[in-house]
Amino acid sequence: MTLATRVDNILDPSIFPAEKGPSHALFDAWRQSDPVHWNPANPAYVPNVPNSSMTKGFWVLTRYDDVFDVSRDQETFSSYDEGFVIWDLDDEELARQRANFMGMRPLEHTAVKQFLMPAFSPKALQNLVPQIDRLAKEIVDGIAARGQCEFVYDVASKLPVYTFCELMGIPEPLRDKVVELGNAMADVETRGDHEVDPTFLLFGLAEEISQQKRQNPDGSLLSLLVHDQSLGLSQMAINMFFIVFAIAGHETTRSTAAHFIYLINAHPEQFELLKSDVDLYLENAIEEVLRYTSTTTNFRRTATCDTTIGGTPVKKGDKIYLSYSAANRDPTVFEDPHRFDITRANARKHIAFGTGPHVCIGARIARMQLHALLKEIITRLPDLRVSGEPVWLSSIWFNAITHLPVSYRPE
Ligand code: HEM
Repeated sequence: MTLATRVDNILDPSIFPAEKGPSHALFDAWRQSDPVHWNPANPAYVPNVPNSSMTKGFWVLTRYDDVFDVSRDQETFSSYDEGFVIWDLDDEELARQRANFMGMRPLEHTAVKQFLMPAFSPKALQNLVPQIDRLAKEIVDGIAARGQCEFVYDVASKLPVYTFCELMGIPEPLRDKVVELGNAMADVETRGDHEVDPTFLLFGLAEEISQQKRQNPDGSLLSLLVHDQSLGLSQMAINMFFIVFAIAGHETTRSTAAHFIYLINAHPEQFELLKSDVDLYLENAIEEVLRYTSTTTNFRRTATCDTTIGGTPVKKGDKIYLSYSAANRDPTVFEDPHRFDITRANARKHIAFGTGPHVCIGARIARMQLHALLKEIITRLPDLRVSGEPVWLSSIWFNAITHLPVSYRPE
């Protein structure tokens, strides 16, 4: 019996993490018969996320074209009205999301994004290449002689955080603290209630380092934010930038690297092909892993007026689940979409980074990091293999591996 016939609600707790990621059986069934599918709230699902509930049902978009079109129309489909995450937020949390530029009104969002873009331009990021290459090398140096390690924590989680530290100008001694807090933030749905919310610890850190940048400007992104006059950002808004960049680039890049290792191990013939010419195959292999895994499985929009999506009427205020996972496996765009194929000609057409006004600002930097780290691993530890059971995050938001034991011949 396929999963699609057992359950018909993506909030069914039996789906995650038992399915090892989002339920493609369910998405495929809906895409065929009911591509804009109403998913009712499910009392069996209670979010383990602060200041959130899940009382409203939502439309799940499973076709590539629908996810694409809705993402590009921020007037009709808002990230501001009720936030950009699928949970229903209380007023305090909604206010916090609106302070984050992902949840700002369109005009405000455009102004902030334009301010940030130069720091993420190809030219600016080119300056980061030597640092990212050095960091990738240092991370692999740290594990190469051991013969085995836990890939997610020891390897994958370090590069996004160190890169974030470079971007923000965070002093070296504080980096491991940021790794620890970043990991805690990333596991948002599995954090125990008793633990201190890492958001507040990161806020404290953001304020401390902002103070240093006020006294000693250094051209880092945090320094630019602190000294900018045009946007008039409050310390709270600066804290939110800090959090957004700490979390947005962390879980996502870390998990894509872990999925890469997992998938390439599960497809030895493709691993051999990749090793036969890393420079030729690696770039497209990364795109295929992004498409195949869509680590950020969804974001949310809210309809600002009565409208239609792919012919289905949608009411003002309805909540919409943009399924990147389903869109990236749409057979009308990707032939034989459940096949993992590092030579897939149109792999880069995926929308794992979203599209439209909110398209991921960190896509280029994520690709740079993944390329540097995976090249270092494949060339130095070519016999690296998964040596134990991976653990999947129990999440309706991220498709993430949180634990991946690997072994290899020591360097
Ligand atoms: C594999 C890695 C990554 C994936 C899969 C990913 C995915 C996404 C997706 C799907 C969106 C669209 C949000 C929406 O439409 O509402 C997004 C936006 C965003 N991402 Fe990423 N991301 C990744 C890496 C990064 C990195 C490295 C950074 C920072 C350095 C970053 C920062 C952001 C920010 C700030 C936004 C909001 C953009 C906006 O609202 O205009 N991401 N990301």
